[in-house]
Amino acid sequence: MKILITGCAGFIGFHLVQKLLSKKNYKVFGIDNLNTYYDVKLKNDRLKILKQNKNFYFEKIDISKLNKLKQNFLNNKYDYVINLAAQAGVRYSITNPDTYFENNISGFYNILEVSKKFKIKHLIFASTSSVYGDQSKWPLKENYNTDKPLSFYAATKKINEVMAYSYSNIYKLPCTGLRFFTVYGPYGRPDMALFKFVKNINSAKRINLFNSGNHYRDFTYVDDIVESIIRLINKPSKEKIPYDVFNIGGSKPHHLKKTFLRYIEKILGKKAMIINLPMQMGDIFKTHADTKKLQNKINYKPKTNLENGINNFIIWYKKYFKK
Ligand SMILES: NC(=O)c1ccc[n+]([C@@H]2O[C@H](COP(=O)([O-])OP(=O)(O)OC[C@H]3O[C@@H](n4cnc5c(N)ncnc54)[C@H](O)[C@@H]3O)[C@@H](O)[C@H]2O)c1
Repeated sequence: MKILITGCAGFIGFHLVQKLLSKKNYKVFGIDNLNTYYDVKLKNDRLKILKQNKNFYFEKIDISKLNKLKQNFLNNKYDYVINLAAQAGVRYSITNPDTYFENNISGFYNILEVSKKFKIKHLIFASTSSVYGDQSKWPLKENYNTDKPLSFYAATKKINEVMAYSYSNIYKLPCTGLRFFTVYGPYGRPDMALFKFVKNINSAKRINLFNSGNHYRDFTYVDDIVESIIRLINKPSKEKIPYDVFNIGGSKPHHLKKTFLRYIEKILGKKAMIINLPMQMGDIFKTHADTKKLQNKINYKPKTNLENGINNFIIWYKKYFKK
C-alpha cells in the first residue's frame, strides 16, 4: 500500500511517518515545502531522521502548486493520502491571513482535486479543535455547531471540512477530517506554549501568559494522535456520502497556570517568571474533546498522562539543544 503524508517535515507528520515506516505494510511517501514559519533546521533535522530509512521517499513540493502536485501523484499512484500540510497557528493568522488562504484553502483544494483524479481510497486531513469557537457545553461533540470560528485559522479548517464533504458527496471521494486538540510531544513546534515555556523558564527568561493562564486546554500527546490516524487509514466511512469527522483529544481539560505550567516548573525544577497578558484575539476559553465517536470507530482513545508527556518533551528538548 502506498501512502502519502503531506507536511511530513512538520511536527505531527514526522511522528506519523516514523510510525508508518515501522509497519511493514506501507510504502511511505512524504512532501513538504519546508517553509520558514518556524526554524527550518528543526524541519530538516526531522527529515534527516526520516531519510535514514530507505523505504521513505521525499519530494519538496508545495501543495498550493497544482502542476507539481499532479505530477507527483501521477508518478507514485498512491492508495491513501494524509494531509497535514497547512499554515498552523491561531495567533499568526491575525496578522497573516493571506498565507492561510493560500496554503489551507487553495492548497487543500488541490489535494482534493488530485485525490479525486487519482481515485485515492481514503483522504484523511487535519482539522482542529478551534473550529468549535466559543461553546458553553463541554465535552465538545462532533455534531456541535461550528459555524462561528473565532480566528481565520479556524475558518480555513472549517472550510476544509465543508469542501471535503462536497467532494465526498459529488465524487464519492472517501474523506475523514480530524479535529486535533493541542498536540504536544518531542520535536514539537517552537511557536506553541510548551516549547516557549520550557525554553524561557529553563534559561531564566520571563514567559507571556495570555488571559493570565486562566483558560483550559485539552492536551493530546503526539503518539496518541499517530496511533489514532493509523487505525483510521483503512476505515473510511461506508455511508452513501463517505465523509466523517472525529475529535482526537486527551479528553481531560487542564488549567494552563495551575496544572500545565506547574508540571513544567516541577519537571524543570525552576520557577516561571510570568508576564500576565489579556486574552488573545481569536483564542478559546476552554477545549475539551468528547472522544466517544473515535473510540467506537477504532477501539482506541488517547491515553498519555500530561505530566509524563511533558517529561518526554523536556527530555528531548534538553538533549536536542544540549541545555
Ligand atoms: N499541533 C497542533 O496542536 C495542531 C492542532 C490542531 C490541528 N493541527 C493541524 O495539524 C497539521 C500538522 O500540524 P503540526 O503541528 O505538525 O504543524 P507543522 O507546522 O509542524 O507542520 C506542517 C508542515 O506542513 C508544511 N507545509 C505548510 N504549508 C505547506 C504547503 N503549502 N505545501 C507543503 N507543505 C506545507 C510545513 O513546512 C510543515 O513542515 C496542520 O494541518 C495543523 O493545522 C495541529
